[in-house]
Amino acid sequence: MAPAIELRGVSKRYGNGTLANEGVSLTIERGEIHAICGENGAGKSTIMKMIYGLIQPSAGTILIEGVERHFTHPGQAIAAGIGMVAQHLNLVPSFTIAENVVLGQEPSGRGGLLSREASIVAVRELAKSFGLDVDPTARVSDVSIGMQQRTEILKTLYRGARILLMDEPTAVLTPQETDELFAAIRRLVVSGVTVVVVTHKLAEVKAISDRLTVLRDGRVTGHADTADIDHKTIAEMMVGRPLAPQIVKRIDARGREPRVRVRQLGYVNAQGSVRLSDVNFDLAGGEILGIAGVEGNGQNSLARVLSGLAAPHAGGGDLDGMPFTGRGVRAARKSGVATVPEDRLTEGVAVNLDIEQNIVATTYYGPSFSSFGCLKTGAIGQWARDLVKQFGIKTDSSKTPVGALSGGNMQKVVMAREISGEPKFLIAAQPTRGVDVGAAGSLRDELVALRDRGAAVLLISADLEEVLSLSDRIAVLFKGEIVAHFRADTADQREIGLYMTGLKRQPDAAARLDAAFAATPQEAIA
Ligand SMILES: Nc1ncnc2c1ncn2[C@@H]1O[C@H](COP(=O)(O)OP(=O)(O)OP(=O)(O)O)[C@@H](O)[C@H]1O
Ligand SMILES: [Mg+2]
Repeated sequence: MAPAIELRGVSKRYGNGTLANEGVSLTIERGEIHAICGENGAGKSTIMKMIYGLIQPSAGTILIEGVERHFTHPGQAIAAGIGMVAQHLNLVPSFTIAENVVLGQEPSGRGGLLSREASIVAVRELAKSFGLDVDPTARVSDVSIGMQQRTEILKTLYRGARILLMDEPTAVLTPQETDELFAAIRRLVVSGVTVVVVTHKLAEVKAISDRLTVLRDGRVTGHADTADIDHKTIAEMMVGRPLAPQIVKRIDARGREPRVRVRQLGYVNAQGSVRLSDVNFDLAGGEILGIAGVEGNGQNSLARVLSGLAAPHAGGGDLDGMPFTGRGVRAARKSGVATVPEDRLTEGVAVNLDIEQNIVATTYYGPSFSSFGCLKTGAIGQWARDLVKQFGIKTDSSKTPVGALSGGNMQKVVMAREISGEPKFLIAAQPTRGVDVGAAGSLRDELVALRDRGAAVLLISADLEEVLSLSDRIAVLFKGEIVAHFRADTADQREIGLYMTGLKRQPDAAARLDAAFAATPQEAIA
C-alpha cells in the first residue's frame, strides 16, 4: 500500500526570500504516529502547511496515498482526507462544541431545532467511536483547552480525515491533558488514522511516536524508529552539536531585605469566580521564586494582577517600598516591573510590526530612542540587531515582521525586550513555552543572569522541571492559594506534585512569606 504521505525533494522559499525547507524527502506510513522535530525555525510548520495546502512548495512533489497532489487551498486537502489542528486553536468561542464540529457541514434535520439535535447526536456518536471525551452541548468558551483541542480533532474527523496533522499540540496543555491527548491519539491510530505530530519536546517524541524525522535549518538530518534512538542523539540531530547539561547555581536569600512584597492579594474574575485569595510572598533582589501549579490554578491571574493588566480586589504588592499593583500597566512598568506574558500572540507582540518596533515598543518614548519627539532610528536598529544576536533570534533582518517569525522566535523577541529593559522585578510566565531545547537553555541563562544582576524574578511555569531547575524558592499555587513553600534545593518533584493536585497542604502556608522554616518538604509536613 502506498504511504499516507510522501514528500520528494520539497523546498519552500517564502516571498521575502527565506528558504524555510530545502530538498525535504520523507515518508509517513499509514497508521503510524510520526514525529517531526527540530529547533525553532527549522521548518516544521512550513512542512505541515504545505501538506495542508495553506502554502505551496517552491520545488518538489507531495504524494498523498500514492497520488501526486498540488493543493492550492485547504479545502482540497480536506477532500483528500487530511485534517490539521493548528498550534493556535481556531474555534468559535460562543458556539457549542457540536456547532463548532459541524460548522459549514451541518447534518440535515427538518427545521432548525431538529438539525441542532442531529448535530448533537452526530458529534456524540463520533466522539464515542473515537474515544474522545467531549460534551457536545457545552459552549467552547466554558471548557478546558484540552476539550477545545479534542473538538478540533473531531472537526477534522467529521470531515472524514484519515490523516491528522498536529502542529505542537501539547504547547497549550497541562501535563495531565498531554497524557489524555496521547491516549486519544493512540485510539485514533487503532481506528486507522495516521497522525503526524510536530514537536521539539524530546520526552514527547519518545512517548508518542513510532518513527521520527529530524529537521535542521530546513533540511532533513535523519529518520529513525523512535524505539532505536535516545534523547541525546535526537537532541544532537536537532542542534548539530552535543548539548551541555544546564546547571544553575542557587541563591539562598534568607535574611535579605525583600524587594517585592505581596500581601493578602485577592482577585475575582469577570465571571465572578475567585481566582486568587490571600496570596502572600516576599521576593529578594537576586532571587528567583518559582510558582509551581497545574495550569488554571490562578497563575494567569497572578501574572495579570502583578503586571498591572488587572486590578486586585484585595491586598496588593510593593516594589522597593512603592506600591505597584492596581494602577495599570504603564505605571507598573514605570516602577520597574516587566512581564513576559503567557499568551505572546495577543499580549506579547504586535505581529504586523517588525522586530525593531516590537523590541522598543515599551521604551521608544525614553531618552535612548527619541529626542525632541523624533525616533533615533539608527540607535533603535543597532539595539535590535544586538538583541537578535544575543538572544539567537533566527531571522535575516531586524526589519522582519514578527508575524513572519517561527513561534519560538517570537517568544525570544518578547524575552529580549523584557530582559534588556533591566527591570527590577520580572514576571516571566511560561518563558520557554514553544522554544526548542537549545534555545530554552539560553533563555534560561538570560533569566539567571538578570537575577544575578539583582532583579527579583517571579517564574510562573507549567513545566515543573523548569521550575525546579531555575528557582531558588518554590511556592505551589492551588485553586488560587499558596499551599506550600519550599527551598528549591530540597524540593522533590513527586512531593510537589501532591501539593499541586491538592492532596497535601502546609497548614500555615498562606501566612508564610518564604521557605525559611520549611527546609524540606518532609519537615514542612511534620
Ligand atoms: N510567512 C512567512 N514569511 C516569511 N518567512 C517565514 C514565514 N513563515 C515562516 N517563515 C520562516 O521560515 C523558517 C521556518 O519557519 P517555521 O515556522 O516552519 O519553523 P518551525 O520549525 O515551525 O519553528 P517553531 O518551532 O519555532 O514553530 C523560519 O526562518 C521562519 O522565520
Ligand atoms: Mg512551528
